[in-house]
Amino acid sequence: MNSSATMSGLSIVLVMVLLCSSAVSELCNTKDKQALLQIKKDLGNPTTLSSWVSTTDCCNGTWQGVLCDTDTQTYRVNNLDLSNLNLPKPYRIPASIGNLPYLNFLTIRTNPNLVGAIPAAITKLNQLRYLYITHTNVSGAIPEFLSQIKTLVTLDFSYNDHSGTLPTSISSLANLVGITFDGNRISGAIPDSYGSFSNLFTSMTISRNRLTGKIPATFANLNLSFVDLSRNKLEGDASVLFGSDKNTQKIRLAKNSLAFDLGKVGLSKNLNGLDLRNNRIYGMLPKGLTTLKFLHSLNVSYNNLCGEIPQGGNLQRFDVSSYDHNKCLCGSPLPACT
Ligand SMILES: *[C@@H]1O[C@H](CO)[C@@H](O)[C@H](O)[C@H]1NC(C)=O
Ligand SMILES: *[C@@H]1O[C@H](CO)[C@@H](O)[C@H](O)[C@H]1NC(C)=O
Ligand SMILES: *[C@@H]1O[C@H](CO)[C@@H](O)[C@H](O)[C@H]1NC(C)=O
Ligand SMILES: *[C@@H]1O[C@H](CO)[C@@H](O)[C@H](O)[C@H]1NC(C)=O
Repeated sequence: MNSSATMSGLSIVLVMVLLCSSAVSELCNTKDKQALLQIKKDLGNPTTLSSWVSTTDCCNGTWQGVLCDTDTQTYRVNNLDLSNLNLPKPYRIPASIGNLPYLNFLTIRTNPNLVGAIPAAITKLNQLRYLYITHTNVSGAIPEFLSQIKTLVTLDFSYNDHSGTLPTSISSLANLVGITFDGNRISGAIPDSYGSFSNLFTSMTISRNRLTGKIPATFANLNLSFVDLSRNKLEGDASVLFGSDKNTQKIRLAKNSLAFDLGKVGLSKNLNGLDLRNNRIYGMLPKGLTTLKFLHSLNVSYNNLCGEIPQGGNLQRFDVSSYDHNKCLCGSPLPACT
């Protein structure tokens, strides 16, 4: 064989290798691509998803809102963001979303034309950790079947159109660290089971809903960093949320009908925000408030508190409006006690 024959043989091999590699260079899993194209179709092929085309690789960064698993090099779709789709008319969350079994993150934000219930097919996502469906018109109860997705870490269903009662069974989710259900029309009582979330659970925000009844006594078991139950119709005792042995940083209970003796609560030394405005809370302000180094926001106005505002710490730095409209609270920054 002469050298030019060897060269042309080599070039043929080279061309074949190149052709081959461009054919297999697609990282996107075929089933994932199929599922994504079905989701796009089920949402009426919105122009915001025009980058999702069958002839391109769904994993090469050009598909809007789609990320694949590069860590394990499986390149399965593990992160889907369907926010701001600008849907021209009402659509439901497609059941085809359940056909992306490697999803870790699912984010669906700011879609006013997304309506209807959360599909049960979502329970097929058995590796899902972060589920964010917010600022949509998705409705119905927040479903009990979420407790079937054992991997869930965070649930955010804020500012949708959810009604019904809170799902009781999600307290069995061993990895759950927080729920955010603000701004819906959820009614009924907070389930007793919510006192048995795991030790990892640190954040509960369900403000701006229609919750009634009492805060369960089982909440004494919780060690929440952040709790916001503002703007509901809760009544009775909320002292279980407090405690000097807890790690609580923010407590927001504004605009309910809560009634308990504030003078008797224990205070977490890390407390930095306390909003109790517009309730029926009575007793005195605890002296321990003056020792809280991080306390930078406080509002106890419009309650039935009495006695002298403890002098010291940050308490005199807060505005008069933080203390106004109580039964007989007095002392700086309010007028002196008589
Ligand atoms: C992604 O793949 C398509 C075709 O498969 C190609 O046209 C595009 O340039 C690629 N984009 C990147 C960022 O690699
Ligand atoms: C729900 O739909 C109404 C009207 O169809 C719209 O005004 C509102 O902004 C939507 N809500 C959200 C959170 O997108
Ligand atoms: C609450 O959690 C903190 C750490 O985040 C811990 O130091 C504290 O002991 C816990 N308290 C209770 C009552 O579990
Ligand atoms: C405290 O709450 C009252 C009643 O809602 C409000 O009018 C006032 O502006 C608040 N003050 C501060 C400092 O947040």
